[in-house]
Amino acid sequence: MTALVHTRAELQPFLDGFANRKRGVVMTMGALHEGHLELFKRARHDCDLVVATIFVNPLQFGPNEDFDRYPRTLDDDLKLCAEAGVDVVYAPAVEEVYPGGQPIVRVTPGAMGEVLEGEFRPGFFTGVLTIVNKLLNLTDPDVAFFGQKDAQQLALVRRMVLDLNMPIEIVGVPTVRDEDGLAKSSRNRYLSSEERTTALALSRALFAGQEKATEGADAVRDAATAVLKAAVATGRLDLDYLALVDPRDFSEAPPTFSGETVLAVAARVGTTRLIDNLPLTLT
Ligand code: PAJ
Repeated sequence: MTALVHTRAELQPFLDGFANRKRGVVMTMGALHEGHLELFKRARHDCDLVVATIFVNPLQFGPNEDFDRYPRTLDDDLKLCAEAGVDVVYAPAVEEVYPGGQPIVRVTPGAMGEVLEGEFRPGFFTGVLTIVNKLLNLTDPDVAFFGQKDAQQLALVRRMVLDLNMPIEIVGVPTVRDEDGLAKSSRNRYLSSEERTTALALSRALFAGQEKATEGADAVRDAATAVLKAAVATGRLDLDYLALVDPRDFSEAPPTFSGETVLAVAARVGTTRLIDNLPLTLT
């Protein structure tokens, strides 16, 4: 049985009951899919208490983004949480999470949060790090689980925990994809079937880049770019960026780079903005 609580006070007895055991949290904005499920399963495997949070965080949406139309599917979400063995879902109200209204004090990511997603979504990572910090305070876990799907978010959360001396382990979970390669995303439900076909260019570009991982950074970028250019030429896809970056600071990998990288892409298909990435080791 998965319990549903809406307030910190209702959550407290669950935390108290596992005071000396391992407590894990998986943060989500709901509209749950198999990607989220993978995080729950990993948390269930690693932890004694699994808390899932469901909260559509207004602070991380820009004025022209999809906050109002972001899918809210709490009943379905609870069923998935129960199937995955989540102990308690904490779905707080905006007033509990932002007791002072618009927060004056926020967590800012610095330069690493101003490239890629941060460049196309100004203020996004301040909104993300501020809510992640708040939800870590509210749920008080030993471990928190994040998807590699949002690679820059995961890297910045790791940095926040390091830079602010937060005694919490951060676990990254590999991206879950549909059989044809499309990364699972809550926003995929906005796509028509034609748009979904177009959206496959993102993962195809990443896999084309992966095939060149032994030929250097430029070869990887060129192979991925070729796939994306063909999609852009159809007029059905607008590319925001393709980048091959050093995962430690998200700076562009120079042509002679070897070691761990992240090949990341963001594009708009119709009115839907999609992101994807692959970790690649350049040899
Ligand atoms: P949301 O988009 O709901 O994602 C919640 C978590 O699920 C994130 O850690 C994300 O990386 C992970 N996830 C999403 N799709 C995935 C996939 N296909 N495979 C593996 N993991 C996947 O990310 C957020 O919410 C918010 O920014 C949040 C951290 C909750 C702060 O508001």
